[in-house]
Amino acid sequence: MKKYRNASELYDIFYRERKEDIAFYNRVLTNYKNGLDNNRIIEIGAGTGRVLLPIAEKHPDLEFHAVDVIGDEISVLEEKAKAAGLKNIITHVADINEFKPEDKFSFAFAPFRVLQHCQSVEELDKFVKSTKNLLTDNGRFTFDLFNPWIHMLVREGVVFDGNYHDEDGNTINRRVEINKRDYFKQTQNIEEYYSVNYKDGTTDKFQWLYTTGYFFKDTASLILEKNDLTVQNLYGQFNCAPFGQTEYKENPGDLIFDCIKKRKERE
Ligand SMILES: C[S@@+](CC[C@H](N)C(=O)[O-])C[C@H]1O[C@@H](n2cnc3c(N)ncnc32)[C@H](O)[C@@H]1O
Repeated sequence: MKKYRNASELYDIFYRERKEDIAFYNRVLTNYKNGLDNNRIIEIGAGTGRVLLPIAEKHPDLEFHAVDVIGDEISVLEEKAKAAGLKNIITHVADINEFKPEDKFSFAFAPFRVLQHCQSVEELDKFVKSTKNLLTDNGRFTFDLFNPWIHMLVREGVVFDGNYHDEDGNTINRRVEINKRDYFKQTQNIEEYYSVNYKDGTTDKFQWLYTTGYFFKDTASLILEKNDLTVQNLYGQFNCAPFGQTEYKENPGDLIFDCIKKRKERE
């Protein structure tokens, strides 16, 4: 029997094993919790709540706002939050650049390369500025990008093709292609194709096509600085290894920025 209505409903199956970033963001929030200006937390690009839900469950005293521009993603998040009985999550379908909340947030986070949906430095600047404007005076912003890996940037075509199984025993093939790299704009088209083979022999097909940018450390650092966000920690891995202090060879690591808003009097 057919089970899935859209690509968003498959997302969590593909990232079942991705847990390290959840632990990282929870660790950062827990470390800063006592010093936060208020109890309002925002995840930007919250998707299906893969990261938000386990963290919100651990902090019932905090109010979590989940913002995503894709309604199908937020619908999955809402269904999961309801099933888990979580009462401290408020959802918004919005582009962060258009989002106008009633109050500011003391902590914003954007896990799993959300800011790479910016396709130029100008778009990155706008996204960071919008985020800064959502923060309280001592607000914090933590997010990750991939560390652009020279070897990967030359690859085109199929970069992944593999099968997953859901809890009902249906098989999902996921094929990811990277095409139309633009080395001047520093963008790439990502095409994700999903084929669901249900146990009863029926099938479904979904796709998710999008363009992402990629940003090197110094570009992102300068954009943050320009927007009055001081980078207090720059990690290269979710185990908090500082950026640049790990082996690069087969694993370029991530760019994980942990920032605090500059105080007005210090500007
Ligand atoms: C790779 S997913 C990450 C989802 C989730 N944070 C996670 O870790 O699983 C990136 C998400 O960012 C959202 N996104 C990208 N640009 C956005 C924007 N300007 N405003 C709101 N959401 C955005 C996308 O719709 C997508 O759901």
